[in-house]
Amino acid sequence: MSRIPVHVAFIMDGNGRWAQARGLPRHEGHRRGATVVKKILRIAEKKGIKYATFFAFSSENFSRPESEVNFLMNLFEKFLKKYGKTLCEKEIRFRAIGNLWQLPFNLQFAIENLTQNTARFDRFHLTMALNYGARSEVIQAIGNLLKNKDVDVGNLTWEDFEQYLYTKDLPDPDLIIRTSGEQRLSNFLLLQSAYAELYFTKTHWPDFNEEEFLLAIEDYGTRERRMGKINDKTND
Ligand code: IPE
Ligand code: IPE
Ligand code: MG
Repeated sequence: MSRIPVHVAFIMDGNGRWAQARGLPRHEGHRRGATVVKKILRIAEKKGIKYATFFAFSSENFSRPESEVNFLMNLFEKFLKKYGKTLCEKEIRFRAIGNLWQLPFNLQFAIENLTQNTARFDRFHLTMALNYGARSEVIQAIGNLLKNKDVDVGNLTWEDFEQYLYTKDLPDPDLIIRTSGEQRLSNFLLLQSAYAELYFTKTHWPDFNEEEFLLAIEDYGTRERRMGKINDKTND
């Protein structure tokens, strides 16, 4: 059996292009994209993955037209409210990462509720990145770190520093999948992805499916993750 990643993170890109190619408004792509999250979660669980993280809205996405931003915020709220019961039944722990306090109050409330209601679970971990930006995460981490007078800045280790990141309770992603052909991270988990394997597919997120996901997992299984070391089998 091939190696299975513990933590897979998704950059769900291409909703707008998927819709436009069909003569539909962009929001139809977002709506369809939300249903894909549920399907992918089921497959992730089935394959033995423990953590799935979805980049749903970047800090920079607030620069989109107000109507699109409002649509997305409502979609996230509805998604969390509707899906909350299933998450509890399936014992899935929910977390959100990002500048959550800048989100609409109703959405913050839904996030807080679901985070609390699922806090006792450990079987599978679902994380949504909402108003997330890696640079902003780092700036805030440094600010909070400097407020802590007990920190010995001169002897700081990565393990100390990562306690100040939104992802402090999550392992680093092993595999990052980006749909829709763009080969960039767009300010997503920049530090946590230091040794992540990257997988890009041209498929737009609303068309991403089991077959595509299994291909990505299979591809991950063939990668040699050296983490700076040399292959054990190398003998000079
Ligand atoms: C990803 O799809 C969803 C969000 C960023 C919210 P896009 O909306 O970026 O779709 P494209 O890239 O414009 O096709
Ligand atoms: C990245 O997609 C953010 C999400 C998937 C939520 P974007 O569509 O915002 O990224 P760029 O603008 O193409 O880099
Ligand atoms: Mg995009």
